[in-house]
Amino acid sequence: MSKKAILHATELATCRTLGPKHGKEMSDVGMITDGAVVMEDGKIVFVGTTGEVKAKYGDFAGYDVIDAKGHAVIPGFVDSHTHFIFGGYRADEFSWRLKGDSYMSIMERGGGIASTMNATRNASKQELKKEGLERMNRMLSYGVTTVEGKSGYGMDKDTELTMLEVMEELDKEHPLDIVRTYLGPHAVPPEYKGRDKEFIDYCLNEVMPLVKERNLAEFADIFTEKGVFGIEDSRYYLQGAKKLGFKLKVHADEMNDLGGSAMAVEEGCTSADHLLMASDESIEKLAKGTTVATLLPATAFSLGAEYARGRKMIDQGCAVAIASDYNPGSCHTCSIPLMIAISCIYMHLSIEEVLNAMTVNGAAAVGRLNTVGSIEVGKKADMVILDKPSIQFLPYCTAMNIVDTVIKNGEEIKIKKEL
Ligand code: NIG
Ligand code: FE
Repeated sequence: MSKKAILHATELATCRTLGPKHGKEMSDVGMITDGAVVMEDGKIVFVGTTGEVKAKYGDFAGYDVIDAKGHAVIPGFVDSHTHFIFGGYRADEFSWRLKGDSYMSIMERGGGIASTMNATRNASKQELKKEGLERMNRMLSYGVTTVEGKSGYGMDKDTELTMLEVMEELDKEHPLDIVRTYLGPHAVPPEYKGRDKEFIDYCLNEVMPLVKERNLAEFADIFTEKGVFGIEDSRYYLQGAKKLGFKLKVHADEMNDLGGSAMAVEEGCTSADHLLMASDESIEKLAKGTTVATLLPATAFSLGAEYARGRKMIDQGCAVAIASDYNPGSCHTCSIPLMIAISCIYMHLSIEEVLNAMTVNGAAAVGRLNTVGSIEVGKKADMVILDKPSIQFLPYCTAMNIVDTVIKNGEEIKIKKEL
């Protein structure tokens, strides 16, 4: 049995919780000073002050002990929204946008998602896997221990299944855990141009039963947006996906307020994501419902768009999660430090709110609150040891990576190299 203990953490932000944290609950990170955690076989078995832990475990004979004096310890981050498996890059589109082009006009001209679709359809499974693995290493270096990954760059059956298989294999081979989402209706592929509804039927009838049968995804997602899939098509898809046994997510109210986030609440989605344009009424609905409001601030940053109204959402009582949206187009970064900086400085969230948004509420957004997202007895021993003594340094070390060590399933992964 592998036994490990962390002692003397200057700050231990447990983020302990009974459920997703809503509104004011997001200000509480369950802080323990001079904190300690005991782990056995990859699971957390005791959490408390170093004094309490020592009183129970004595001299820790047989334990591998980490002295975390001078370090803050936090739960591993849960990046609950990414598209990290893709072929090709779209650096050219990024340059066009710098010159004034817009994301949607590039998409309308046949670029954007369709361009990555072509590159992904043409990539081999090995290529997708190799690049995916490198991206996972980078995410891990930022302290991410669970990541959600979407299909959606194949749109046809074979490529969609390949993307999900790649994630299934990477999940087994890499320490990071992957939660898989089927995003067939990410755009209308050229072979279905003008036949949106038929494409959704193709997803529901030809692809998703196979995805379900082979247990390749637990969530289904759709890009609900003006010029992509409207509310009626989206509802039809979500209801069909639910019947097939999928949990639901929606890309909602990103560029236009179509009422996608209100629809997400009505259809019982686990999360509604983006929400830049979500109306007051939609925010009210999210606050009263059980759908997690997932904000993707690095996407708004990369697109030069207005940020989602995270402050208002928390003040109204929403459960807010923050994720990267790592993808080849609208947001080609998985930088946790960048997201923390934007969330604190421009969305006016406190560091406590941001930490809960990127751990427990991220876990809630991927249906994993029972196993990850906080430092609590019975959960996976997924933690991050910072190279600074306080969580206050997370936004203060602006957009810099202050992860020293990642603990994944109780195993130590050293990140900070001595310079
Ligand atoms: O979440 N908005 C739709 N989907 C992705 C972008 C995908 C892409 O541009 O390749 C998003 O931003
Ligand atoms: Fe996305």
